[in-house]
Amino acid sequence: MRRALVVLAMLLLMAPPVASYSVPERGVVYQVMVDRFYDGNQSNNRPFYDPSRTNYRLYWGGDLEGLTEKLDYIKSLGVSMIWVSPLNDNVNGIVSGSAPYHGYWTRDYRRIDEHFGTWVDFKRLVEEARKRGICIVVDYVPNHSNPASDGEFGALYDNGTEVTDYFRDAKNASVNPITGIRENVYHHNGNIFVWSGIQLKYANLYGLADFNQLNPWVDSYLTEGARLFIDNGACGLRIDAVKHMELGWLESFYLRLYSGGPLFIYGEYYSPSVQKSDDLYEFYRYSNVSPLLNIPIRADIVRTFGFIGSLETLSRELEGYYSRFVYPNKQLNFLDSHDLIRFLNGARREDALERFHMALALTMTLPGIPVIYYGDESYLVSKDGAGDPYNRPMMVFNNTTKASYIIRTLAELRKTNDALAFGDFRTLHANYSVWAFERTFGTHKLLVVMNKGPSRSLVLDLDWPDGVYRDALGNATIKVQDGKTTVELPRNGFYVFHLEREQEKPLIGSLTPYAVKPGQRILIAGDGFGSSGKVIIGGVEAKVLSWNSTEILVEVPRVKTREAWLNVVVETNGKVSNAARLRYYSGNEIPALVAVNASLVNVSRVNLWIKGNISELAEPRPLLRSSTGYYFTVVPLPNGTAFSVELYEGPYWGELKPLGVKLYGKAAGVVVLSDEPPRVEGKPSSEIPTNGAPPGEGTTPYAVVGALLVILGLAVVWRKRA
Ligand code: NOJ
Ligand code: CA
Ligand code: CA
Repeated sequence: MRRALVVLAMLLLMAPPVASYSVPERGVVYQVMVDRFYDGNQSNNRPFYDPSRTNYRLYWGGDLEGLTEKLDYIKSLGVSMIWVSPLNDNVNGIVSGSAPYHGYWTRDYRRIDEHFGTWVDFKRLVEEARKRGICIVVDYVPNHSNPASDGEFGALYDNGTEVTDYFRDAKNASVNPITGIRENVYHHNGNIFVWSGIQLKYANLYGLADFNQLNPWVDSYLTEGARLFIDNGACGLRIDAVKHMELGWLESFYLRLYSGGPLFIYGEYYSPSVQKSDDLYEFYRYSNVSPLLNIPIRADIVRTFGFIGSLETLSRELEGYYSRFVYPNKQLNFLDSHDLIRFLNGARREDALERFHMALALTMTLPGIPVIYYGDESYLVSKDGAGDPYNRPMMVFNNTTKASYIIRTLAELRKTNDALAFGDFRTLHANYSVWAFERTFGTHKLLVVMNKGPSRSLVLDLDWPDGVYRDALGNATIKVQDGKTTVELPRNGFYVFHLEREQEKPLIGSLTPYAVKPGQRILIAGDGFGSSGKVIIGGVEAKVLSWNSTEILVEVPRVKTREAWLNVVVETNGKVSNAARLRYYSGNEIPALVAVNASLVNVSRVNLWIKGNISELAEPRPLLRSSTGYYFTVVPLPNGTAFSVELYEGPYWGELKPLGVKLYGKAAGVVVLSDEPPRVEGKPSSEIPTNGAPPGEGTTPYAVVGALLVILGLAVVWRKRA
């Protein structure tokens, strides 16, 4: 018996560790600017190196070897993912007084920059990190390469072989008859000066050579470049400047990357405010496809803690903001970053440090995955300035501060309390200086209470079992009796009370990723899953690849649907979970330029949208108006599939009105929609079963007759008007 137990114990020790970091919401991200972290190899520092580390625009020596050396330090903070600044080979030159020490001026998407190391160094970083329960997320920049009119002038290489540069590319560029964009490998449309519409996506961002992702060579070059990091062990990507690329291209890019297994891909969509704007609408649309950094709320958090502002206003604003996401818990919260002024470099208050601790703890307890910017734990600031590049000083290592304690403690709590990872978000009390909110995931609960004003006590209604609860960050306790508690709050106090009990029924907290096509693997995370059961996706049983009480890996089945979102349900021991939502694509997607000839639209200068009869088109997509007489967008379409769309008109955030115009197309690289169903072998194409169309629907003679009648009707109306 004893022998058997010893063997069992040995087997358990030998078994690969269950990677806690595979569920992003249960983890914390640590953001590192590689050049500014740690110099592990002095032989790669030149050229453009400043050994005195006084010129913030030159290289300071940090590299992959240095980062690997410091993994134990990073692990001591309890974090589980490291987001590294872009690693690809950057231009060799100074542009506007700056070297590309930051990594955002790529010249070769197949190589690692010589200042940072080699693919061997990258693999070693991944392996050493993995041993410590940490995975690597790489910043990747598919919107643009490098400055178009300085430095290397947009020079682009494919593993060392020169492909083009911005001027050479311009010589062979031509005007796309649909978008009106001059294009080749790059777009040739000048710099962005109107921050909306076509320019936002098809002109150069700050003079950076803007990629034409619809060029098939560019598409596969950028996809293969991203895949290199994944094949070498990265668990995710942070995608730069997603606002400046077509969502439809990003969707097909992500789906291709996901085909190797679950990945954590998140985007940087720069939208700095929670005010309803076209931008914010687009921000949410992008977040339905992949998580985003919570940029819109950051400024108000910093203002409220670092300067002045009401916690009540902030609480209302944050509740509104989070309520609009399908997956609020998978978006990413941050306080500081390489683009913004560090909190402690900006706040001018005597109690700035205490306020920083509060804001940091808030960032780690709100819905969403926390991102800690390197040096926040050691109060890193610059004496020389505040914004970019002074928010990127050389790292100071100190993991014994109160900030380190907050980060470590809340990172550890996040691994065991699923209310932090997956919980909802409800304000219990808020006024100018006091805020109490509760987060609940089944039987896991969290009560966060803070006070930035004079000491006071606060009585709260709290639906927790009678008992005494301790603050995770200190020694404060609360006693709950008959659904009531009193919290004693000193000035600048911040408490995190928590409760974990065994979950009574299966509960899904998240899907990774939440955008999928058939055959793709997704990780279902939650609790109470038992040791076996069934997973039903859109009514179809999914193939289970692995199963434990908190994580299930499944393969997404093919589902006959026209919907954008499917329900995912776990069944175990006769109990059925909540329904999680999965953004479904029917498979074999290609990024298609879909266009409507403006002459088919009977209204001039409208905000036009399309909505169609396949999953990819089930949610309305806004169209851009070109200078050449078309409305267009990019849609990830199932190659070769026939489909139809209806036209709608209306503003962002407003009601969309159907225009009563139905158009048809068949998925290909370019689809100009027609008002007649395409005919195949003498039959209207609506008789071809649409990929994903429910059986019978859309294929019945009635539907065909109906469509013909609509067209006939329209023709009569138009003729009458004419
Ligand atoms: C956003 C990045 O965060 C920023 O640092 C960079 O300069 C721009 N995108 C352009 O790549
Ligand atoms: Ca170095
Ligand atoms: Ca672009």
